[in-house]
Amino acid sequence: MADTLHVPHPPRILAFAASTRSASFNRRLARVATECVRQAGGDITLIELKDYPMPLYEGDLEAAEGIPEQGKRLKALLAEHQGLLVVSPEYNGFITPLLKNTLDWLSRPDGDQDGLALFRDKLALVLSASPGALGGLRSLTLARQLLTNLGVMLMPDSLAVGRAHEAFGDDDTLKDARQQAKLQGMAAKFVTTLQTLNPR
Ligand SMILES: Cc1cc2nc3c(=O)[nH]c(=O)nc-3n(C[C@H](O)[C@H](O)[C@H](O)COP(=O)(O)O)c2cc1C
Repeated sequence: MADTLHVPHPPRILAFAASTRSASFNRRLARVATECVRQAGGDITLIELKDYPMPLYEGDLEAAEGIPEQGKRLKALLAEHQGLLVVSPEYNGFITPLLKNTLDWLSRPDGDQDGLALFRDKLALVLSASPGALGGLRSLTLARQLLTNLGVMLMPDSLAVGRAHEAFGDDDTLKDARQQAKLQGMAAKFVTTLQTLNPR
């Protein structure tokens, strides 16, 4: 009998940018990274956080109304994915309130479901873009720390795209070929690591 060709299964990755601005550089970078992950064989779902609007987390609101409907939708979506691609702007050296608020709501328990169970065994890749020279580098450390606190594993490399206003080509690529190749390499490693962590 002929050997069955082993085709690694595509890991599922949920991607979003932590900016909802229409001309957002981080949304643009999320699209570039999504394409890189797709080319590397990942099954990636790119969502817009604008489609999941949630109020600022507040304990009394949670006690009275529970997790917002959009938060429940996002929780259900995240549960279907093994990987997380987060692309966040830097605000005053920090991550955006949108990223913090989104992850805060997602981390809350829903009924008898432990909130952090959702994040356990997930693997994340974190990127940022900024018109500034450093590309939001300082926020990357904080995004990584926040995800680690939730129990998410992190890919060792992150990418900060500086001078973002002139970084993107007309197609969904980075103009700097070296930077584009770096992102492609990171995406490929992300996909293979997810396959290793989630053998079928
Ligand atoms: C409140 C605020 C603080 C900011 N702080 C930083 C900063 O610390 N570092 C930086 O590189 N850019 C900073 N910026 C500029 C953002 O990088 C820039 O607005 C960027 O375009 C936001 O991301 P977006 O294009 O994805 O919406 C700041 C912008 C705002 C609104």
